Amino acid sequence: MTFKKRILCIGAGYVGGPTMAVIADKSPDVRVELVDINAERIAAWNSDHLPIYEPGLDEVVKRNRGKNLFFTTDTDRGIAESDIIFVSVNTPTKTFGQGAGLAADLQYWEKTARQILRASTSDKIVVEKSTLPVRTAEAMDRILNSNGSGPHFEVLSNPEFLAEGTAIEDLLDPDRVLIGGMNTPKGQKALDDLEAVYASWVPRDRIIRTNVWSAELAKLVANAFLAQRVSSINAVSALCERTSADVGEVAHAIGLDSRIGPKFLKASVGFGGSCFRKDILNLVYICRQHGLAEVAAYWEAVVAMNDHQQDRFVARMISEMFNTVAGKRIAIFGFAFKADTGDTRESPAIRVCRHLLEERAEVCITDPKALDNAARDLGPDTPGVVHAQDPYKAAEGAHAIAVMTEWKDFQALDYQRIYDSMEKPAFVFDGRNILDHAKLHKIGFNVYPIGKAALTHV
Ligand code: UDX
Ligand code: ADP
Repeated sequence: MTFKKRILCIGAGYVGGPTMAVIADKSPDVRVELVDINAERIAAWNSDHLPIYEPGLDEVVKRNRGKNLFFTTDTDRGIAESDIIFVSVNTPTKTFGQGAGLAADLQYWEKTARQILRASTSDKIVVEKSTLPVRTAEAMDRILNSNGSGPHFEVLSNPEFLAEGTAIEDLLDPDRVLIGGMNTPKGQKALDDLEAVYASWVPRDRIIRTNVWSAELAKLVANAFLAQRVSSINAVSALCERTSADVGEVAHAIGLDSRIGPKFLKASVGFGGSCFRKDILNLVYICRQHGLAEVAAYWEAVVAMNDHQQDRFVARMISEMFNTVAGKRIAIFGFAFKADTGDTRESPAIRVCRHLLEERAEVCITDPKALDNAARDLGPDTPGVVHAQDPYKAAEGAHAIAVMTEWKDFQALDYQRIYDSMEKPAFVFDGRNILDHAKLHKIGFNVYPIGKAALTHV
């Protein structure tokens, strides 16, 4: 079959994988190829066990793989043959040198840009899909178009707003698709081409065109606003625990104000995920670079509050468990940063477990999808860390359960059976407020939700 267009995506991760699978699904006349430097990951994409867990993803991949959706490691050929190149390689926070701990590490991005330049023999549209600091597109444009008379590269920014666990839904029915391009005839033509890809299934009025820098900044700001809501309600949860207010009732009451809205007001042990922390710290770095110290401090507080919420959670566990957890087994219910994903990047469970291990507790982690990642995050064979696929096994002989992830599976467990197998007094610290607290209390547990009165037997 001859294809109308050829799309390449460099980086077959949580963003590139689902996004390309949906584009292939919706555009049978477009050839979509994903490449990655990680050969193991590509092999997994070509197998029955995809490298990431995402509801609905298996079906979409299996339906299109080998027809117009391909996974390979042959990046140079992929580049040479494509019209549009999405770049969705990782951009972690820098761990060294200038901007360490705040700025994005752009070495993978720059390497990719140089590879595109080397392997291209025809004009390309290069689309930034990874979250990048504002004005990265401009730098990319300069690297790519430094070749004088060679092919022309038009750089666009098309930030991804999908959330893990709902990636396929978010891609199929997005609130908006944002594409930013240069205000030149070539820039506008490239925007038309990219818009046509999405227009196969997204209504045109939901496809927004901006200049490149607005698109880049909008991504950072969207994540900063979302994270700021979570930190705000978490700050309120601390106050609720000191008063007799209930954070769920407060969130419900304020969420009914249409100006505020009900979403992203669930108090929790803290937000995690690959984006929020990284993007906010990036925003903080950019503000500082522009001499905006107060603006930087404002956004930095969102991250500081998130760290505090996790530390507060552990401090409460220790103080309620008679000021020591040393030698006590704690069952960690969930390690993923949210339900319906196996991803554990920046998961609050990591910080919570590390604290508990410092206090010489034994942590027994259970999670339906994230045990492999959990083992990697805490280091393999770390003393004091045990894993159990079965939550009943994890709780056996434990002094406490700490709920870290809002997996539905945890709500359906037989807590009488769990209680009977635990040390007494038995504690539940529900970092997601998902369990039936009154019922647990009746069984005999001492229950500590987030942002509401504890239910205890003392
Ligand atoms: C986020 C953005 O939502 C998405 O648009 C962007 O593209 C990537 O970053 P993601 O990190 O996958 O997506 O998950 P999200 O649903 O935003 O949750 C982030 C964290 O906040 C999770 O740890 C979640 O548990 C937590 N959270 C979310 C709360 O604690 N309370 C809430 O009310 C909402
Ligand atoms: P995200 O959540 O942003 O998708 P991931 O870490 O899941 O982040 O995916 C990024 C992918 O990009 C990884 O699979 C990584 O191996 C890949 N990658 C990084 N650098 C390159 C490169 N130069 N060429 C191809 N793939 C790359």
